[in-house]
Amino acid sequence: SVKVTKICCSGPTCAVIALKCPHIIVTIVDLNQARVDAWNSPDFKLPIYEPGLEEVVREARGRNLFFSTDVDKGIEEADLIFVSVNTPTKKSGVGAGFAADLNYVELATRRIAQVARTSKIVVEKSTVPCRTAESMRTILEANSKPGCRFDILSNPEFLAEGTAISDLFKPDRVLIGSLQTPEGLSACQSLAAVYANWVPKDRVLTVGLWSSELSKLAANAMLAQRISSINALSAICEATGANIDEVAHAVGYDTRIGPKFLKASVGFGGSCFQKDILNLVYLSESLHLPEVAAYWRQVVEMNEHQKRRFSKRVVDTMFNTITGKRIAVLGFAFKADTGDTRESAAITLIRDFQSEKAYVNIYDPQVPHDQIWADLAEASPLAPVETIQKQVRICSSAMEACQDAEAVVIATEWKEFNDIDWEQVYSNMNKPAFIFDGRLLVDAEKLRKIGFSVTTIGRP
Ligand code: UDX
Repeated sequence: SVKVTKICCSGPTCAVIALKCPHIIVTIVDLNQARVDAWNSPDFKLPIYEPGLEEVVREARGRNLFFSTDVDKGIEEADLIFVSVNTPTKKSGVGAGFAADLNYVELATRRIAQVARTSKIVVEKSTVPCRTAESMRTILEANSKPGCRFDILSNPEFLAEGTAISDLFKPDRVLIGSLQTPEGLSACQSLAAVYANWVPKDRVLTVGLWSSELSKLAANAMLAQRISSINALSAICEATGANIDEVAHAVGYDTRIGPKFLKASVGFGGSCFQKDILNLVYLSESLHLPEVAAYWRQVVEMNEHQKRRFSKRVVDTMFNTITGKRIAVLGFAFKADTGDTRESAAITLIRDFQSEKAYVNIYDPQVPHDQIWADLAEASPLAPVETIQKQVRICSSAMEACQDAEAVVIATEWKEFNDIDWEQVYSNMNKPAFIFDGRLLVDAEKLRKIGFSVTTIGRP
């Protein structure tokens, strides 16, 4: 198999490859000059927030890790190219709302075919529905120059945001899919050899191309399904007096089930779960498997139900009206330790509060204010911007957000919300002062002693 010496990729995951493999030159390419400048900035003001990333870039940048807008040069020089581009859900056309938009993957693939003058291993890293690698292969082969061969691999990313760097340092597994031909297997070995620099051999799984692609969708669908299952049970707990944390703890002790990913919440968010499940739904439907499609669709529907149920509980608890009341929403990111807001449950909650004509104060330690405004505008496309701005205020601390509020809603499990001076918050709020904990974060008993009326997911 070919020994990889130069890698070209889009997206920052390859920074870790550079760190762990000083003998490989890694170039991260991006057409966006501002982003590349940020990657290259002397004071390490990187374009994304991810714990540990800065340290990686500090060590490898300029040594064997480079950032550039010169995509063509990156492609030409590399012997292995990671294609990790956006595959958002299609907004129009066939499969709108479900199928992935593969336009960017196709454009990237065509570019590689056009520019490459030597043989390349092309690795599909974006989450894409099954058999995308096949399309990529066809495009590459139809456009390759003589003497220039392309081998396609699938190498899905399993990292989670907020823990991306530690996930990459110590992955549960690395999955590499290839054609089962001698050339395919040899390309697979080349990539496996890169990971062998820091990942134990028994954690590098090599499978067929299709299995690899489907495994990525399957893993995310099953993780999301666990959350929807625990959230469905949280509704039963609220109605019956059981405590969802106790139930999750008891259930998770079964080694076959395991304790992780059983935290009831106001609903899952993030760029992957919903998108991947809808992809799976679309795939199942196109394979004429309507029952399978309905099964997976229900995971997303349960998540929507969980968010609606939470907003309704807020209104019900506050004497059936929140009109004109001020609600502090703590947390806007889809989970803690990230500034990412894609599909964040907070967006839906705030939209619900807005349509009940409440005033909303928002505080999040990481999300930029422009991002919050953009998300809120997108969530209520019919509301004029001025109306939104009249109803919503973005604050720069939790304390400020809670000032003169009637209720506090915890939407993201930021650790710092535990260290809030709740006595102080209580004295600044209108009474009765309500707290709605959508993340099982705060000590409800302690807060009740202060005087708060506390409502927690999965508890009566
Ligand atoms: C996920 C997968 O974990 C990762 O393997 C894949 O590569 C990308 O998608 P990510 O979206 O970054 O990663 O976040 P994750 O930690 O999985 O959380 C997703 C959502 O589920 C968050 O909104 C989180 O708050 C929620 N969640 C998670 C729960 O509500 N309860 C849990 O027990 C776990």
